[in-house]
Amino acid sequence: MTTATQIDRSRIAELTEREEAALNERTKKSGEMYERAKGVLSGGVGSSYQARAPWPIYLSNGEGAVVWDVDGNEMLDFHNGFGSMVQGHANPAIGRAVAERYEKGTHFAAPTEDGIVVAEELARRWQGLPRWRYTNSGSESTMDAIRIARASTGRDTVMKIFGSYHGHHDTVMISIGVEYDAIGDRDNLASLAYGAGIPQATVDMTIAVPFNDAPAMERRIERLTEEGRKPACVIMEAAMMNLGVVLPQPGYLEAVREITRRHGIVLIFDEVKTGLAIAAGGATERFGVTPDMVTLAKALGGGVPTGAIGATEEVMEVVENGSVVQVGTYNGNPLGMAATRANLLEVLTPDAYTHLDRLNDRILAGCQTVIEKHNLPGYSVGVGSKGCVTFSPVEIVDYETFKANQDADMAELAWLFNMNRGIFMTPGREEEWTLSVTHDDASVDAYVQVFDAMADELMG
Ligand SMILES: Cc1ncc(COP(=O)(O)O)c(C=O)c1O
Repeated sequence: MTTATQIDRSRIAELTEREEAALNERTKKSGEMYERAKGVLSGGVGSSYQARAPWPIYLSNGEGAVVWDVDGNEMLDFHNGFGSMVQGHANPAIGRAVAERYEKGTHFAAPTEDGIVVAEELARRWQGLPRWRYTNSGSESTMDAIRIARASTGRDTVMKIFGSYHGHHDTVMISIGVEYDAIGDRDNLASLAYGAGIPQATVDMTIAVPFNDAPAMERRIERLTEEGRKPACVIMEAAMMNLGVVLPQPGYLEAVREITRRHGIVLIFDEVKTGLAIAAGGATERFGVTPDMVTLAKALGGGVPTGAIGATEEVMEVVENGSVVQVGTYNGNPLGMAATRANLLEVLTPDAYTHLDRLNDRILAGCQTVIEKHNLPGYSVGVGSKGCVTFSPVEIVDYETFKANQDADMAELAWLFNMNRGIFMTPGREEEWTLSVTHDDASVDAYVQVFDAMADELMG
């Protein structure tokens, strides 16, 4: 953290306007495609997270660490499909596995051997979680995990971290992305629907607590217990990945583990973003705290939609005995399982994690040097393949500090600046970069150079 210089707000606005105009100019075919798309796709996209004003950037292809948009702009990919493509695009090992599987048939809704191999490998990586099931996305994983936790405890209330995203089903679309003045007081954070269409009864059943504050979590659990609505589970990311990156403070995860165990509450680490991206065994391995369940998706399938849930034998008993009906036509789909098998056994090897850690250290250090050189208010932070520059004069530890301090205008300017200089970054102030095994020193240095160029223009 530096003693930062105030950034001139009018300079941010001026550069943002200039960069916006430049991006519109270089993405005209995307603009034309949007005109066509919005006639048939709501907002011109298949998912609201892909929407953007004045138009989304439509991509045509990707290879390794590089992607191209429909205007032919070549960009180094730090977005990587919201953190899914840690393998790099069109990875040959995964391509081979998919092609071989295609010849033999891609879908039976019957189990195949690859599904067993994948579960064996996941059980090996997530020590202490020996039982697995499949889904097709992160949302399905968290939805089923919560149902299993509810069945296993016989309770309804779900506890989550305020500001965390766990997918798009009703129970977890709560207390995310709300305005600062709507958060509520720390010991009694508000349950607020994220978007319309979520029943109030469901909203009321999900209770949010602040990240990095185990005593606040325990106080809320005690109050809920007194009210006769003790939580079935705590669902959380061990490191928050949607406020940039927010790492757990020393002792926090251990305290959460101890509190949930003592109160008989199922602890779910949602590893949809962290799993396979920050270590072979995800956050569970990286931070050395084992939950009762984990949820995976994103980087699991190497670009083929695949999700998984891992749990202890005790928790999974309700699936084994049939009381929870955990199902899905495409669960364990042969194509997804073949891609996942190749991904786990051939691509995301121990060497891959060594490479990702080294590259991330390099990009984080490079960004931190730029911050210090220009006296910018901010810091770089990351773990495994993931990281970001957080534009804030103070360290972000939870949603409240994020909302109060993070500079959204700077995040927007940085995104535009990157896009105009061959760096494809995840849009939005909440997001972080994800590196792939195909990134190298030159790719991360390019990122740092563009950041340096922006800081130069901004700070003069
Ligand atoms: C932590 C976390 N959990 C769950 C999800 C939902 O995953 P999906 O978009 O595959 O449904 C996401 C997606 O960003 C996520 O970041």
